[in-house]
Amino acid sequence: MIKIVIAGATGYVGGNVARACVSSGLFDVRVLTRDVKRIPHDLVGKVEPFVAEVTQPETLRGLCDGVDVIFSSIGMYIVNRKPSLWEVDYHGNLALLDEARRARVNTFAFVSVLRGPEMAAVSPVAEIREGVAAAIRASGLDYLIYQPTGFYNDIGYLLRSARQRGVLYVAGDPNVRINPLHGLDFGEEVARMIAAGNQRNTLVPIGGPEIFTREEMARLAFKTLGLPPKIRYMPLKMVSLMADAARFVGHENAYTLFKFLEFAFSTPDMTGPCVGSRRLGDFFARLAREQSLALRPSLVEEEPEAQTPPTL
Ligand SMILES: NC(=O)c1ccc[n+]([C@@H]2O[C@H](COP(=O)([O-])OP(=O)(O)OC[C@H]3O[C@@H](n4cnc5c(N)ncnc54)[C@H](OP(=O)(O)O)[C@@H]3O)[C@@H](O)[C@H]2O)c1
Repeated sequence: MIKIVIAGATGYVGGNVARACVSSGLFDVRVLTRDVKRIPHDLVGKVEPFVAEVTQPETLRGLCDGVDVIFSSIGMYIVNRKPSLWEVDYHGNLALLDEARRARVNTFAFVSVLRGPEMAAVSPVAEIREGVAAAIRASGLDYLIYQPTGFYNDIGYLLRSARQRGVLYVAGDPNVRINPLHGLDFGEEVARMIAAGNQRNTLVPIGGPEIFTREEMARLAFKTLGLPPKIRYMPLKMVSLMADAARFVGHENAYTLFKFLEFAFSTPDMTGPCVGSRRLGDFFARLAREQSLALRPSLVEEEPEAQTPPTL
């Protein structure tokens, strides 16, 4: 059995990596959490919780004892001003790296972002993720740095917005190509690579099985809901202005988000090498079912993906 620590398992990406590791039967899984109640219900009893807070490094002591591999997708969605991305995504992950080195873990697997090195020049989100990736690469530990394109949980905002507003706004280039990825397809790939153990010290750009333009994804959201497609186009300049405004009012986290979007909405090719088989249309259909059930709360099924995914 491979002993793995998963940091971020209470979120979409890390949760799916934990699921894939557990169901492979090849891993003994320890998950880092701030609160045991946040562990997804389908993982309870199948993983060993370790309660700590990455922004308080002293609490991490012992996390990696006896561990072969650590995987981290710890990262913030940027809605509030505090804590800052630097505190959580950067210093939090570096604290995990320190603990991994102290405990002589073999391999650090980390989630950065597709085209991270290019994006880092313009977007602090990528600058931070790539800064952590650079520290891991320099640490002497073996590493796997994943560079995923968008995950389905984020793309799900299209369906929610189409239903709530009846209209979708596509900012920037509607022809940007992207192959979004289901979290479980990603998790299965991570588990497979770690278990195989033959791809050490590798950067892994990664995407899902189908390539769409941004406009095609918006149309798919309307089609799933059985609504006529109502798409409005916004110049990229609007996103740049929002970034400027956020910086002007001192909202650094919002600034980093808009700079990320500015890059993602203007880079023609946001596709990574294809893995997996789970299709976006099926994910949308399931989300649509869950949303209509949510109108009648007593009928909501308890399923792992029923957790409210964060929106961009
Ligand atoms: N989703 C995408 O499309 C995408 C694409 C490329 C890269 N990524 C990268 O992957 C990361 C994870 O994505 P995700 O979709 O899994 O996000 P998520 O569902 O929001 O999960 C984030 C994880 O980070 C933890 N976390 C957040 N704030 C924290 C804090 N202040 N202290 C300690 N832990 C904290 C969360 O723990 P709690 O449950 O305790 O809050 C959770 O386990 C992102 O931040 C991003 O950098 C994502």
